[in-house]
Order: sequence, then C-alpha cells, then structure tokens
Amino acid sequence: MRVAVLGAGSWGTALGYALATKGYDVAMWDIDMPVLQSITAHENTRYLPGITLPSSMHGEPELKAALARAQLVVFAVPSQAMRSVGTQAAPLIRDKALLCSVTKGIEVDTLMTMSEVLQDVLPQRLHSRLTFLSGPSFAVEVAREFPTAVTIAGEDAEVTSQVQRAFHTPFLRPYVSDDVVGVEIAGCAKNVIAIACGAGDGLGYDANTRAATITRGLAEITRLAVARGANPLTLLGLAGVGDLVLTCSSVKSRNYRVGFGLGQGRRLDEVQAELGQVAEGVLNAKSVKALAERAGVEMPLCGMVYAVLYEGRDMADLRSFFAERPLKSEPEHHLGRWTRRFRRRGRRVAAGPATPDA
Ligand SMILES: NC(=O)c1ccc[n+]([C@@H]2O[C@H](COP(=O)([O-])OP(=O)(O)OC[C@H]3O[C@@H](n4cnc5c(N)ncnc54)[C@H](O)[C@@H]3O)[C@@H](O)[C@H]2O)c1
Repeated sequence: MRVAVLGAGSWGTALGYALATKGYDVAMWDIDMPVLQSITAHENTRYLPGITLPSSMHGEPELKAALARAQLVVFAVPSQAMRSVGTQAAPLIRDKALLCSVTKGIEVDTLMTMSEVLQDVLPQRLHSRLTFLSGPSFAVEVAREFPTAVTIAGEDAEVTSQVQRAFHTPFLRPYVSDDVVGVEIAGCAKNVIAIACGAGDGLGYDANTRAATITRGLAEITRLAVARGANPLTLLGLAGVGDLVLTCSSVKSRNYRVGFGLGQGRRLDEVQAELGQVAEGVLNAKSVKALAERAGVEMPLCGMVYAVLYEGRDMADLRSFFAERPLKSEPEHHLGRWTRRFRRRGRRVAAGPATPDA
C-alpha cells in the first residue's frame, strides 16, 4: 500500500513508522524541511529522536507528489492547521483513497470538530472515505512497538474496516466504531481534564484527587458528547476512558505537565516556554467551554481550567470544586437524559413488546 502522512511531527511519524513496518511505502509531508530531511535519513531527530525509521519511509517536500499515488492519506497536523492542509490537499487526493485523521481537537474560530472541518474543505466524493483515529497512545510508545490499542471511527463500515486493517500491526490493535462525534469530543475534552489532573498533583494532592478528577471529568465529557448525539458507551471505550486515564496520569502528556506547573503556582507562559511544544488542552479549554455553553451542558471542571488559563483564577481553587459546589447524585447526573430514556425503554421491554421498537 502507498501512504501519504501529512504532518511529520511526533504522531504522524509514529504512525508512519507503524505503517512502514508492514512494508507500506510511506511518504511523509510537512512544512518543516529539516524534519523531512532527517526522516529520509531514517530518524526524525526533532520529534522522535533515537528511533530508527524503516527504509520504506521517506520525507516528501511536495504535497502533490506525496498524494499523487497515495491509497491511504493520514492527516496528522495540529487541529488549527487542518483547514489549510485539507484545503491544499483536496484537489490532489485520488478518488478511491482511504482518509484517516489522527488529529484531536476543535477549530477555535468555528468550534468545528476535525470531521466537520474536513467535510467543509474536501469534495463530497471523499466524505464517505473519511475515518478518525483516536485512543490512548503516546507517539513514542507506538514507535517503540509497545502494545497499543486505538479506535477508528467512520460512517462507512467498509471503509472503516479497510483503514482498521491497514493500521493493524503486531503492536497496534485498532477497534472500529461508527460513533465519530463521540470519539472526537472525547479526544478533545480529555486534554482539559488532564490539565486539572496535573494541577492536583502539582498542588501536592495524590491518588484520591486524581481518581475523583478523572471520574468527574469523564462525567462532564460524557454529558457534552451525549448532547452532541454520541453513544454514551463510546465514552467507556478506548477513545473515552482509555485516553482520559492515559492523559491524566502520565508526565508524557503535555497537558498534564502544563497543569502540574500551574498547580505549583507557576505562570502559564513560563510553563509553556519550558515545554517547547503545543499543549492542545490550552486551546481546547476555550473550545470546550464554548461548546458546553452552546449545548447547555454543565462542565464545572473544564470551566475552572478555563478560568485559570484565561481569567486569572488561582489553580489552588481546585479545592473549591470539591468543597463549595452543591451536592449531587451519580450516575443519574452523569448520564442525564440518556439514562432516563434507557429506563423508560427498559420498563417498556419488561411490560412486553407494546411498540415495534421495544
Ligand atoms: N504526540 C502524541 O503522542 C499524539 C498521540 C495521539 C494523538 N496526537 C494528536 O496528533 C496531532 C498532532 O500532534 P503531534 O504530537 O504529532 O504534534 P507535533 O507538534 O509533534 O507535530 C505537528 C507537525 O505538524 C506540522 N505542521 C504544523 N502546521 C502545519 C501546516 N500548516 N502544514 C503542514 N505541516 C504543519 C509541524 O511542522 C509538525 O511537524 C494532535 O492533534 C495531537 O493531539 C498526538
């Protein structure tokens, strides 16, 4: 198979590596020429130093050349670059190509998910070819061939299963799903909760606070995803709880590290400068707040992270999330309308098939 990976950063390179281990011909494209040169020399010295890349992988500076023969196109650029890259790629992609976005995030100006952005810029003929890969996966661990499982969501079952087979290697196990919106909302909102988790640790709290933040964070993300039409069970899978636990409990997560620094009382610009890379959760906090307001969904942890990042609130106020808010119940609160609908349906089923869909 011939593959084009657009975006030769950590994640694009790690997935390019996985595909190249199968003998696929992988062309990596990016605007960063030194990165492409280093890939052709079999190492991405900037984003994945120390990993020897297979010889079937090379840097390709021309987008047209990268896409001309590609049977699988992987979009791995940061979320805010997706529109411009998708627009440039649109006229160059072959009709029968499989498409997979591995980017997590929401476009800040429009509040569109990556699937909405790509549908906006790609011709109609390619919409059914689109799939979205997400799940608990640090790039460096995939490139070291540590066993990893991900979810690939798409609306066309046959296309999604072809992409699943393409990414399957002895160390990378993809599951398929038809819940694109659930997978996308989970992949974006978990970054904001990771900042809260890092902050708890930075403040000197420990396992209790982390577990509470992850669990209540999951409740918030589920509410938003369900309000947008997601299946709540998606949030219990790899793209939901899997990615949330990964991001919230490892110093490999940039978002966790930003939160940790803020929890220690350091300034955001200082922490970000030290990181030297983008922590998408800082932007995601804005988008998630706006999406929650639009959907009329309560997301107090995400709201608090937003207030710390953009309104000067002190991260030490994480304590007030636990101490001052009105007491609630779970899981009714957590699954909201969906749970009530489920119960009504359960009562109907118990009473016999009164309606054809019971
Ligand atoms: N790093 C990980 O472990 C990981 C894991 C899973 C998902 N992701 C997701 O993958 C996406 C990419 O993350 P990353 O970690 O690879 O980022 P990165 O910062 O390591 O790399 C981004 C790459 O995109 C390139 N780029 C930026 N703007 C571009 C443009 N306009 N045109 C062409 N290339 C452009 C940059 O030059 C860089 O090489 C994010 O949405 C992230 O959430 C990352």
